Amino acid sequence: MSKITIAIDGFSSTGKSTVARQLANALEYIYVDSGAMYRAVTLYAIRNKLYDEKDPGLQRLVAQLPEIHLSFVFDPRLGYSEILMNGENVDKEIRRMEVSDRVSQVAVIREIREKLVDIQRDIGKDKGIVMDGRDIGTVVFPDAELKIFITASPDVRARRRYEELLGRGEKVNYEEVLRNIRERDYIDSHREFSPLKKAEDAVEIDNSELDIGEQFDKVLRLAKETIEQSL
Ligand code: DC
Repeated sequence: MSKITIAIDGFSSTGKSTVARQLANALEYIYVDSGAMYRAVTLYAIRNKLYDEKDPGLQRLVAQLPEIHLSFVFDPRLGYSEILMNGENVDKEIRRMEVSDRVSQVAVIREIREKLVDIQRDIGKDKGIVMDGRDIGTVVFPDAELKIFITASPDVRARRRYEELLGRGEKVNYEEVLRNIRERDYIDSHREFSPLKKAEDAVEIDNSELDIGEQFDKVLRLAKETIEQSL
C-alpha cells in the first residue's frame, strides 16, 4: 500500500500527540513529536546555563548547536518513540514546566528552526510518517498529502495539561498552566519565522467537545480516504 505524509499542527495541549501516535500505530507509520526537539534544545540551554538577559537572541546556544545531537528511539513497551539528546533519554524531563516556560523563546530562533527542520525532513523523506508540531503542514512538509489542524479552547487545554502534570506528580497551579498556554499561543502564532497558522489545505478539527475515541475515528477515516485517493 502506498504511504503518505501526515502533518498534524495546532496550539499546545490540544492532544495532537495523542492522536498522532494513535494514527501512526494504526497505519504502522513512524511518529515524530517535533515539539520534543524544541524542548530538548531548551533543556540543553537550561542545563548549560545559556539563558542570559544580556543575550536575548541566545547566541551562545546557537553557537553550540553543532554539539546537540537529537534522535528518537522506539520503545516497544510504550508503543512510541522517545527523544534522545546526545544519547540520553530526556523524554520525561523535557515535559517539565521549567522547559515549557522557556521553549517558545528557543523556537523563535531562525538557526534553531533551520537545524530542526532539516532533521525532520530527513526523518520523513521516505513518507509513512505522522509528525506533529506547529509548522509541519506549512513549512516542514508543505506537500504532505494529509494536513490536520487541531484546535480547542484555552480553558479545555489548560485543564487537560493541569491534570496531566498533576498525574506526573508536579506541583502546579491551574492559573499558572493557563497563563503558560495563553503566552505560548501568542508567541507561537506571532513569531517572525514559521508562525503557527493553519495551512490553507488543512482540515480543521476543534476537539473541545470530542473525546479521544471520537477524534481518532475522525482522523483515521480521513487518513484512509487520503491513502486510497493517492493510490
Ligand atoms: O508541542 P509542544 O508543546 O511540545 O511544543 C513545544 C514548543 O515548541 C511550542 O511552544 C512551540 C514549539 N514548536 C515549534 O515552534 N514548532 C514545532 N514544529 C513544534 C513545536
